[in-house]
Amino acid sequence: MAINKDNERKALHCAYTAGTGGGKSVAVQYSGHMPAAPCLAIFDPYGDYVYEKGNPKNRGFAGKRVYHYYDRKSFAKAFFNAWSTGLCFRIAYMPRKPSRDEMLWFCELMWHAADGNRRLDVVIEEVAKWCDTSSKEQSAFGECMTGGRKFGLVMHTSFQRATEVPKTVLSQSPYKIIGIQEARADAERMAKECDISLDEIAKLVPLTYIKKCPGWGNVEALDLRSVFD
Ligand SMILES: Nc1ncnc2c1ncn2[C@@H]1O[C@H](COP(=O)(O)OP(=O)(O)OP(=O)(O)O)[C@@H](O)[C@H]1O
Ligand SMILES: [Mg+2]
Repeated sequence: MAINKDNERKALHCAYTAGTGGGKSVAVQYSGHMPAAPCLAIFDPYGDYVYEKGNPKNRGFAGKRVYHYYDRKSFAKAFFNAWSTGLCFRIAYMPRKPSRDEMLWFCELMWHAADGNRRLDVVIEEVAKWCDTSSKEQSAFGECMTGGRKFGLVMHTSFQRATEVPKTVLSQSPYKIIGIQEARADAERMAKECDISLDEIAKLVPLTYIKKCPGWGNVEALDLRSVFD
């Protein structure tokens, strides 16, 4: 059970949305929304954050090593070991057969570990795949999104289509990073949600984004095209 509730903690959750190749995983790493020395747990079903020394394609998390685990037991053990040291870490769960059930198990573990005295960053990749509703998400994942703030959780959710994710994800994420949109319906959803024009979204190219920050009309441009130069 989450401990040390602190109502003063600000909601820092961030949603990242773009069509495939639009740069969601790049934005998770380089948009400046992650602490330099994080306590970071990633639900990484497709191995987007695999680290392989000397391989520029497998750069881990922003060039830092990520430890991947493939079954529940070894991930849970490694995660609690890392979390109990009080030091920074980057660790990922990559289940052999990714499913909603695996994602919810991961979220339950995060909820269990959450401690209002410390920040724990949690990345959930491709959220739409693990959710079967576009309305309220009533689950351990929903609990992390709605109640997590007070217990130090910072949820980073990535998805390709905004129309396919629970509304809880958008409503509970005060930060939203919007990249290229494949479908008009998704662009409209984000335009409405962030009070920006469809034209602004239509102009985006891969690795360029509009970043919505808390507050009415508070948007800025973000360009990560030179991140790998
Ligand atoms: N290690 C890398 N080296 C060079 N370029 C990269 C690297 N990783 C990503 N890119 C560039 O960034 C683009 C966006 O990649 P990214 O993985 O962030 O997309 P994504 O939105 O997460 O896609 P998906 O939905 O398929 O996971 C890629 O098309 C590629 O051009
Ligand atoms: Mg990705």
